Amino acid sequence: MLGKSNKRPKRIAVVSPKGGVGKTTVTANLAEALVGRGHRVCAVDLDAQNALQFHLSSDPVDPAGLASATLRADDWSSVTRQGIDKLRFLPYGFLSEAHRARFEAAVVDGPAWLSDGLSTVDAKNIDFTVFDTPPGPSEFQRAAVELADLVIVVVLPDAASFITVPTVERTIESYAGTASRDFKGLFFLVNRMNEGRVLCRDVRAMLSQRLGERLVPAAVRFDAAAEEALAAQQTVLAYEPEGRAATDFDALAAWMEQTLR
Ligand SMILES: Nc1ncnc2c1ncn2[C@@H]1O[C@H](COP(=O)(O)OP(=O)(O)OP(=O)(O)O)[C@@H](O)[C@H]1O
Ligand SMILES: [Mg+2]
Repeated sequence: MLGKSNKRPKRIAVVSPKGGVGKTTVTANLAEALVGRGHRVCAVDLDAQNALQFHLSSDPVDPAGLASATLRADDWSSVTRQGIDKLRFLPYGFLSEAHRARFEAAVVDGPAWLSDGLSTVDAKNIDFTVFDTPPGPSEFQRAAVELADLVIVVVLPDAASFITVPTVERTIESYAGTASRDFKGLFFLVNRMNEGRVLCRDVRAMLSQRLGERLVPAAVRFDAAAEEALAAQQTVLAYEPEGRAATDFDALAAWMEQTLR
């Protein structure tokens, strides 16, 4: 476990080239699993879909978030919400169309908007910051990767995900290459793993051969509790703490502790 000093938080970007593969589910549950292991964690939603708040039981009608705070040059601590235990949560928030265009224009000049915004939120007393991002390349994905110590690419155990590997490697490595810090690298996480299906096992074996140690050993298995938890606006860990997915997210958090030690 990390010490409780004021040292810089470890930042994790959760990304994917494809939509709907489980980025938001992974962000919410990795954050909560790290909290369960005694860490102080900040979950940050960089996706205008605002889906992360539904996993974290946050108030979905409050429009305030990091987007409006950036436009108003407000301190991001004013829009940070307190989640379960030590989990802090920064929602993206809601913007009018005109404000959305202004915000998106403001984020294209590098990740300063994100590092400045976070400086009042995670600079002290946070061990891990986890970024949820929109699917595919974007300025939000770029900013998260540029600030990250480690990037998790979420993939499904299917052919469609496998063929995206070279492209996502090139994109993320080009983003990460512009960062000037100790970057641990790009790791792939299989989500919705089904051991009972030959195709899933075959694709995971191909990923393992292609990626070696860059395939996270802790795959997250398919678990209906993941979908039910979202319907109940909870993380899987809160909804069914002894279930398959909850167990796998805890294993992912343990791997993350080791890798970012
Ligand atoms: N391990 C799992 N087992 C079963 N269902 C899962 C699992 N992980 C995620 N899901 C379900 O898959 C759907 C998509 O998940 P999620 O919203 O996290 O994907 P996403 O990558 O964030 O999507 P988007 O690209 O739209 O942001 C949700 O209904 C979620 O409950
Ligand atoms: Mg999402």
